[in-house]
Amino acid sequence: ELSPIDKAKFVAAKRAVDFVENGMKLGLGTGSTAAWMVRCLAERIREEGLRVTGVPTSSRTAELARSLGIPITSLDEARWLDLTIDGADEFDTELNLIKGGGAALLQEKIVATASDQMIVITDAAKSVTQLGAFPLPVEVIPFGWQTSKALIEELLVSMDVLNRDCSLRMNGDAALITDEGNYIVDLHLKRIGNPRQLAMVLNQIPGVVENGLFIDICDIVIIGHGDGRVVVRD
Ligand code: A5P
Repeated sequence: ELSPIDKAKFVAAKRAVDFVENGMKLGLGTGSTAAWMVRCLAERIREEGLRVTGVPTSSRTAELARSLGIPITSLDEARWLDLTIDGADEFDTELNLIKGGGAALLQEKIVATASDQMIVITDAAKSVTQLGAFPLPVEVIPFGWQTSKALIEELLVSMDVLNRDCSLRMNGDAALITDEGNYIVDLHLKRIGNPRQLAMVLNQIPGVVENGLFIDICDIVIIGHGDGRVVVRD
């Protein structure tokens, strides 16, 4: 018997996997909700002989997909994808997202952008009217990261952002290192007034590789509830 939160994630994932058709090239997201999607996909492959190729968005997802017998390839091999299914940390009414709570935002954004469609699977708790309660992850290269962090803080001052605590994401005593060998700086903004603008200007800072704001990338959000109900927003 699943807990209500796992049930919510599972029913959203299962509904998303209904969108998968034979021959599709699929982006496979990262996180606990996306892991349910990978399991549901493996089940359709096993039971229906569904033929798909997956492009994982993290080493964790690659390992899970491989262990379940899902054929996977690299993005460079697949080049363009039909559909990406991924989780998110927050989504707003325009279906803009914050992602990267699992530190995989860079590969996730590249893969989602290479896809005709992106479906986000989530539970209702991640729905917000304004993004920013969840700390915004920004991926920076290790070289001169403190300078990049200071430049981010200066940018936030110049934008009159009130809450602008920035923290290096840790993994125990050491800086967390992403799959691409970078660091994550989390921006505790509480509210993001203009996510479109912030996403653009952050990426202009030297040393910033990418940020967790997904603007105009997601097409459909599938929201699972603990009682098994599913709501689709597009
Ligand atoms: C990974 O970097 C994130 O973007 C995840 O998609 C996000 O953190 C959602 O994870 P959960 O499904 O575990 O909440």
